[in-house]
Formats: sequence, structure tokens, C-alpha cells
Amino acid sequence: METKNPVIECLMNHRSFRKYKPDPIPKETIETILRAGIRAGTAGGIQPYAFIVIDDPEIMKKVSYIHGPLAIVAVVDQYRVKRYYELNDAPFYNDQAINLFISYWDATIALHNVVVAAESLGLGGVYIGMILSQDLQESLGVPEYVVPAGLVTLGYPDEEVDLNPRLPLEAVVHRNGYRIPSDEDVASWYREGDERWRDRFENEWSEERRKEFLDHGVTNRAQHWTIGHYTEEFTRNESAGVLRNLRKAGFRLAEAAEQDD
Ligand SMILES: Cc1cc2nc3c(=O)[nH]c(=O)nc-3n(C[C@H](O)[C@H](O)[C@H](O)COP(=O)(O)O)c2cc1C
Repeated sequence: METKNPVIECLMNHRSFRKYKPDPIPKETIETILRAGIRAGTAGGIQPYAFIVIDDPEIMKKVSYIHGPLAIVAVVDQYRVKRYYELNDAPFYNDQAINLFISYWDATIALHNVVVAAESLGLGGVYIGMILSQDLQESLGVPEYVVPAGLVTLGYPDEEVDLNPRLPLEAVVHRNGYRIPSDEDVASWYREGDERWRDRFENEWSEERRKEFLDHGVTNRAQHWTIGHYTEEFTRNESAGVLRNLRKAGFRLAEAAEQDD
């Protein structure tokens, strides 16, 4: 028998919302979701992340192309950690990949706690991935050792959105080791999403848009992403931004990797 409770129901009902009513989110609600966010587990109890809460439309425009009453940027905050270590005569390592990756992990689970809490209170939102390549030193004045980890925009939804499909559990779950799937397995797992895409491509897209994609060689959903949307040039530029952010923040991972070679 399936187990249901309000938390499971909230999780199973998740969908991304990109249009919001202009209604502001009450202060107490914002505080509640932020408090729920920081209750997430955190490596060593150090909380090497921070949330930058944005409700100023001008600042929101700088960090997000989707605008709502609220946006929350989660950042890796090794700056605060460094200050804390300095106060306690403890060394700070700026070249350790493990510290940085754990901080990303910490930041994004805390942000997701915020999102789940927000959804449980009737809010809706969407993550915006490309925050990772943005220069937050410029747009938000973050100090050294602070880099973007995630962004969500939030508000009261002003659109109807269907549940999006997910892969079947067997595609995602491996038991006691990784089982290499067959081509048929992989194709069948993505079929539902592929069929939805084809339906939209054939019945909802304008002739002009369809032609533009076909001219670029896009004939299926996978190609839509890799040739039509997240092109090689685009992803290279974004990747350069991510690495530039790390260097500019003071992380010296490449140097550490070279020493290890
Ligand atoms: C890491 C991450 C980055 C995302 N970035 C974007 C984005 O930049 N723009 C956008 O419209 N949606 C973005 N999304 C939302 C996904 O497109 C959405 O979750 C997916 O299409 C599934 O739809 P659902 O959330 O309604 O189930 C992102 C989601 C995640 C988890």
C-alpha cells in the first residue's frame, strides 16, 4: 500500500511555476521558509552557504530572467567559514575540491528545503540554473570565497501547470551496484517525455519555429536540448563563467590538481 502524508503529497505534487501573481509574500512566510531551509543537514554543522533574498525588482532583473515577488540565491559561503576559522586560529584551505563540493551540496539541499517549505504553503517557483555562471561579485557584491550555487524565484502561482513526467523508478534506482542498461531500456525510459515533446513540436509550435529548429538539424527532444537550446557554444560560455567565478573568488583547485598529477 502506498504511504501518504502531507509531506509526501506535497513532494509528489511538485511542478515548476514561472508566472506569479503580483501579491507580495508575507514576511512571516518568508521567515518560515528560510528557517525550514537552514534546518537541512549540514556537513560538520558549519553551514558553508548563505541565502541572498531578493525582493527589489531592479536587483532581481540582474540575476534572473524570470521575475516574481521573491528570488533566493543560494551561495557557497566559504568567506564566512574563513572568517570563523581565522577567529579560531584554524587553517583555511582554498585549494580543496572536497570542501567546495560539500559546500555546493550543503547550499542546494538547504535551498531545496526552502522550496519544499514554500510549496507546502501554497507558493510556487522555479530554479534557474544559469546563476552558476553569473558574476555575483558584480551584481550582488559578494566577497571572496563566495560563489553561486542555486537560484529560485518564488511567488503565488498565476498559471495552471501539468505535472511533468519523470523517468520510471527502475531507470533511476540501482540496487547494490550500478546495472548497465540496454539501448532499449534507455530509449523506453525517455519515451513518455519524447512523445510529449513530439506532440508539442507537431501541434503547438508555429510553422516558423518548427522550421528554424529543423534547419538547425533538430528532429527530436535530445537534439532540441543539445543543438537547439544548450548548444556547444552556449554551454562552453556558461562553463567558462563557472570556472571564472571560482578563480575570481579565490579557489585554487586547478593549481591543486596540477600538484597532484
Ligand atoms: C538545477 C535546475 C536548473 C533549472 N534551470 C531552469 C531554468 O534556467 N529555466 C527554467 O525555466 N527552468 C529551469 N529548471 C526547471 C526545470 O526545467 C523543471 O524542473 C523541469 O522541466 C521539470 O518540470 P517540473 O519541475 O514542473 O516537474 C531547472 C531545474 C533544476 C533542478
